[in-house]
Amino acid sequence: MKVIVVKDYNEMSAVATDIMYDVISNKPDCVLGLATGSTPEGMYANLVDLYRAGKLDFSKVSSVNLDEYYPISPDNDQSYRYFMNTHLFDHINIDKAKTHVPDGMATDADAACKAHEDTIDALGGMDIQVLGIGQNGHIGFNEPCDEPVPFTHQEQLTESTIKANARFFESIDDVPTRALTMGIQSILKARKIIILASGKSKAEAIKATLKDEPTPRCPASLLYAHPDVTVICDEDAYSLCK
Ligand code: GLP
Repeated sequence: MKVIVVKDYNEMSAVATDIMYDVISNKPDCVLGLATGSTPEGMYANLVDLYRAGKLDFSKVSSVNLDEYYPISPDNDQSYRYFMNTHLFDHINIDKAKTHVPDGMATDADAACKAHEDTIDALGGMDIQVLGIGQNGHIGFNEPCDEPVPFTHQEQLTESTIKANARFFESIDDVPTRALTMGIQSILKARKIIILASGKSKAEAIKATLKDEPTPRCPASLLYAHPDVTVICDEDAYSLCK
């Protein structure tokens, strides 16, 4: 994995924006693999600025998102569909019909997972996949485990993830306990992967990803198998790797 260590959150967002800019400008009909969480918010704001400045065109772009809580309505302001609309899609000229987030309202979760994986394949895989990282090393909602489920599937969230995500909800009891997520093999379908990490709370996960033996106990470390992964982290997130 290539590692870029930057000073702070803003620099991390700027480096990630430059990489996204190159992908979108070189291939106007590219497929973006997108992530939610607080980490990519700065990058999305920068992409909106570039669009408003006339420097990026999303009219031919498609997107697939990593994950979605389950069950959750797209109108719920904590759903990942709502996040993507409000942080990016509502502010750029992407065709929303070409944006794909796992269906948090599906009556049949397994069918929704299969449909999401079929969408990834029909699009020919992602040209770039953006990832954040959980404090326990999860990517998407692939939680630490002994045997990862390869493709898009339903996942039971761990206590650590529920606690970490409770800050976005009124109370911890409101945090959904399940999610639909791309699997590690779905993520590996991307031709390029960037992992963003900022802050001391991510230092353990970044150390386990970069310095320790790859293990499904730290799902991000399993990406070592991919030939084009760049970890963009700030000094705090990198602090245990020195
Ligand atoms: C969530 C998401 C992940 C995200 C992680 C970290 O659980 N499913 O895709 O990377 O949290 O979130 P944050 O960037 O807010 O720290």
